[in-house]
Amino acid sequence: MESDVRERVRRTEVALRNLNVCIRMASALSFSHELVKDNAGCCASELRSIVGDSGALTISIDRGTLFLDAVPLFVAQDVGTKLSQWLGERGVEKLTFRPGLSEEDILNFVRVGMTVRASDTPEDFGHALQRVGVSTIAVGTTTPKPAELPEDAVHLYRLAVGMVRETFSRLVSLGKIDVVAVDRIATLLTDAVLQDHRDLLRVMTGLQQFDDYTYAHSVKVSVLSIALASTASPDPLLLKEVARAGLLHDVGKLKVPLQILNKPAGLSHEEWQIIKLHPLNGATLLEQSISGPSMVPIVAFEHHVQYDLAGYPRLRKKTRASPYSLLVAVTDSFAAMTSDRPYKPAVAPSEALMIMRSLVGSCYDPTIFRRFEQLIRASLNIPGS
Ligand SMILES: [Fe+2]
Ligand SMILES: [Fe+2]
Repeated sequence: MESDVRERVRRTEVALRNLNVCIRMASALSFSHELVKDNAGCCASELRSIVGDSGALTISIDRGTLFLDAVPLFVAQDVGTKLSQWLGERGVEKLTFRPGLSEEDILNFVRVGMTVRASDTPEDFGHALQRVGVSTIAVGTTTPKPAELPEDAVHLYRLAVGMVRETFSRLVSLGKIDVVAVDRIATLLTDAVLQDHRDLLRVMTGLQQFDDYTYAHSVKVSVLSIALASTASPDPLLLKEVARAGLLHDVGKLKVPLQILNKPAGLSHEEWQIIKLHPLNGATLLEQSISGPSMVPIVAFEHHVQYDLAGYPRLRKKTRASPYSLLVAVTDSFAAMTSDRPYKPAVAPSEALMIMRSLVGSCYDPTIFRRFEQLIRASLNIPGS
């Protein structure tokens, strides 16, 4: 995630903490109390600085989780729960802040919110806000989910992406991987895939746009890899290791400057050399973080090695990359092709399969690709060709 997006998320979390305190304190004390006004003021100034002069900031609430755009917010858990509950009791699924927001607007928002009755709709809430002159805060219900995607799977996907975001952010600040957090995500995804892989695979290929590309990509590769590996072995321990390998295959990219990663046009020779270091950087970091034998560093090191040993890095002593590296090479390409990237729009799953099929034997292992194609066609109801 770009640093400005991360900063936007962090500031939003701060603003929502202030808003929650303001609501709690206003109920317990009074609107004239300094604590209530201070928190309303901090909330307003934080939101003003995020929104700027012409933007808008929309928070949505989905089953108790607060989202900024599609990114789940990790406001301290009780704060998130209380705030989403307070909004949910008023039927609010979407909260939009606009330029010019003042401390008085926040206070009026809370004041009006307290007078909303159970029978009132979000529209009633909105009209009441307008009546007291608040035009910088709008309440409403969320727009429909993209293309009839299964809600539970979308929710799980977004949660997983948020967890990856948190884990990778800690990695950047602490310099090491939180193995326990990665295990938690791997377990969540493995259990979900074993329960119903079809819904999840529809979500992985149905949500092309995501402002959190690196994290979304890690989750997509992980889910696709678990699903593909499960066609050969149902062993949950093995599948969790595959899940971890998918989540962390590109962890070395955290060292690549964002202006290179997100460059829309062709890379210079030097920039390309920097990108090509991500397998080595990732594997080194993983070797230092994971104790005991693991396929995870190997997959990170080899996932851009092709079936015919072209690609990068060069393997000196091996005649073939490891089977799980070859598996992730397939899921990695497919996940990337079916997502919008800074330099290329997404292609349909059927088109990605067609492109990849032309590279079987050179880029991709024929057996692994055949199994993958069958899995995707069956899961997404794509007729065979
Ligand atoms: Fe990669
Ligand atoms: Fe990748």
